[in-house]
Amino acid sequence: MGKPKSRKRASRAGEISLRSPGLSYRPAPKAAVLLLHCERLPLPELAEKFGTPLYIYSGNAIRHRYREFDRAFHGLPHTVCYSVKANSNLGILRLLSVMGCGFDVVSGGELERVLQVDRKAARKVVFSGVGKTAAEMDAALKAGILLFNIESESELELLAERAERRRITARIALRVNPDVPAETHPYISTGLHRHKFGVPIHDASRLYARAADSLFLEVVGVSVHIGSQITNLAPFTSAMERVADLVRGLREDGHTIRYVDAGGGLGIAYTQIGLPEFADFVGHYAAAISTPLQGLKLHLLLEPGRSIIGPAGALLTRVLYHKNNNSKKFLVVDAAMNDLVRPALYDAYHEIVSVVRDAAAGEHQVFDVVGPVCETGDFFAREREMPPVKDGDLLAILDVGAYGMVLASNYNTRPRPAEVLVDGKKARLIRRREKLSDLFRLEKAKA
Ligand code: LLP
Repeated sequence: MGKPKSRKRASRAGEISLRSPGLSYRPAPKAAVLLLHCERLPLPELAEKFGTPLYIYSGNAIRHRYREFDRAFHGLPHTVCYSVKANSNLGILRLLSVMGCGFDVVSGGELERVLQVDRKAARKVVFSGVGKTAAEMDAALKAGILLFNIESESELELLAERAERRRITARIALRVNPDVPAETHPYISTGLHRHKFGVPIHDASRLYARAADSLFLEVVGVSVHIGSQITNLAPFTSAMERVADLVRGLREDGHTIRYVDAGGGLGIAYTQIGLPEFADFVGHYAAAISTPLQGLKLHLLLEPGRSIIGPAGALLTRVLYHKNNNSKKFLVVDAAMNDLVRPALYDAYHEIVSVVRDAAAGEHQVFDVVGPVCETGDFFAREREMPPVKDGDLLAILDVGAYGMVLASNYNTRPRPAEVLVDGKKARLIRRREKLSDLFRLEKAKA
């Protein structure tokens, strides 16, 4: 991958905004350097107070992106159901819930998180996923969720049985697999027949008929999700064209289709790849999705994850050591693949910036930025040009709000980082750092 161009742009005097909303460099008091801030808080202060590695989120950035997303669909009846899997911290869910956001969940655990934050939010919950268990269905029926997205005939049978047993009607959509390639990383592409997701679109009408036969299932919609980190919008339109045809056919068959769930998947700019400003991009996305549905009088459900939260989060890490192996230069930092696995798992690119910017600091150099975990795959950047940094300096890894902390593990018996939500000059600890005792708590050395 080529070296991305700088993402910095000038704003008010002395301040340089990063493309990541909520982050900017501001002059340090009494020093000729700039300090990276999240909203109005200098990151060194956060590192001091909460330690590193540390996940930091900008509350204003999340709110701004949610509003822009919602506004893009203003012409249509719609509900934004934030995809909890992207970042499921209760503090984040609460922030979105008070703004009126709904939720897309894929497990009983995610549902329980939403209920913990606001029991009434269940009315705006859609439940997706290929492997829902009977217990998870029971919990969702009891909570009174808006919609089950059904992914197979066997699941349909089981839900019919659970709903009948509880005498609660389940509103359902079938998640159809439209056989549309999404042009993204193969691990996160989902809309082809060879993927495990959804039911083949040509088989859908038979399954809808089966669902309509069941007293405790109410057929209300069609759902689709073709993948994640999609930046070319054409596949969204192709998928919705197929969905629109299906809706017309199902209505002819006598089904009442009120909802179309368009899934998630809108990509973000991890590098300077020339995406428009978010408001414009999400506007194009809204057009790509809604144009094929014109005239169908539907309520649209949307399941964005990354596009709401991704750019609003950074991972703050401290340089432990410089290390040279022959001509190769490494920066060993205190965060590792267990804290942020995207580079190791998808070879994902994340921009890394220095928290202190000192114009007089000297030449940039090329480094691999790596963590302490005992795997060669434990890297955040390879052959990356970096400003001069010393041991003990702070770096910020950008665009990690989505699929960062949720994918963190305790590999190498490393406690997971703390998470902080920043609002203006206030920082709220929304998850404390794990202690070693937290890691051992469930284990037994002796019988
Ligand atoms: N709805 C469904 C049914 C999904 O499977 C997903 C993501 C979403 C919505 C949200 O998609 P988003 O708007 O965030 O693209 N760990 C990977 C991403 C996995 C996405 C899984 N499904 C990564 O770090 O890139």
